[in-house]
Amino acid sequence: MGLPNPATLTLQSRVKLSSGWEMPVLGFGVYMSYGQEVINSVYHALKTGYRHIDSATLYENEREVGLAIKKWIHDTGGKREDVFYTTKIWDTDQGYKTTKKAINFSLRECDLGYIDLYLIHSPNPGKVMRKETWLAMEEAVKEGKIRSIGVSNYGIKHLKELESYATIKPAVNQLEIHPFLTRKELVEYCQANDIVVEAFCPITRGLKFKDHRVQNLVKKYGRTPAQVMLRWSLERGLVPLPKSSTPSRIEENSKLFDFNLTPEDVESLMTNEYYIVDWDPTNVA
Ligand SMILES: NC(=O)c1ccc[n+]([C@@H]2O[C@H](COP(=O)([O-])OP(=O)(O)OC[C@H]3O[C@@H](n4cnc5c(N)ncnc54)[C@H](OP(=O)(O)O)[C@@H]3O)[C@@H](O)[C@H]2O)c1
Repeated sequence: MGLPNPATLTLQSRVKLSSGWEMPVLGFGVYMSYGQEVINSVYHALKTGYRHIDSATLYENEREVGLAIKKWIHDTGGKREDVFYTTKIWDTDQGYKTTKKAINFSLRECDLGYIDLYLIHSPNPGKVMRKETWLAMEEAVKEGKIRSIGVSNYGIKHLKELESYATIKPAVNQLEIHPFLTRKELVEYCQANDIVVEAFCPITRGLKFKDHRVQNLVKKYGRTPAQVMLRWSLERGLVPLPKSSTPSRIEENSKLFDFNLTPEDVESLMTNEYYIVDWDPTNVA
């Protein structure tokens, strides 16, 4: 499953997940942002129009993200349901009992009543407890603690293994994807199996802004490198999760819905590089 027709998307657009819940098509990342900085940036993102925040237990900012969302609800009269909140179980918490504890911890930290999307952060190269972890997550869905469940950094073999025991299908697979790590086969597999693909490090943390292929489209459309890379994600049916703690960049990264890339432009950014910005556990055992 990909996004609805990219040409018709707006900042308010949502994609329907296999769980039946809807997820906003532009997310907001909060990795490596802490304390008052992350409160300010999430609040600014919500004021700008983002409605989808991507945190994780690993990021140690679930409490602050929750505070920012609650402040926005209080100040604007918005509703909890207006905001889509994702968090993730970290590798060392995998296992049946430990997953239940981790979910309760995240619920207490964010204090938002429920979690919209809960992901297995990675297939976990250490002690493999994927099945126990997933079954505990399914129970939390039935208990109303979580609305949708999914995975992150899963390769095709991990998804096939999950299919063999899941009674709830994964709604999402979150992966590092940008023009320098395109993951064509894995994206096609997910989209053919009704799994929405989210793109992390979608703007390569700025490391590839000067690349000539990006610059060609910067010149052609009069957009910034970040906007070109984020629009490329949307054109591929992906949900990008750009992070910024800078108000002007938070706004810049949301201005993606008044221009299109042609299929040829998209193809021109399908490089054959295998450039990892963060990490790539998609091939672990
Ligand atoms: N599941 C996983 O394993 C995993 C792994 C990594 C990341 N993620 C998620 O994906 C999100 C995004 O990934 P990321 O934060 O690693 O990388 P990213 O979004 O590609 O890049 C963020 C960096 O780029 C800068 N930036 C943002 N907008 C910019 C702009 N318009 N112009 C120039 N620079 C800009 C930011 O600086 P300032 O903040 O200083 O503006 C920040 O340093 C994370 O925050 C997290 O939620 C998930």
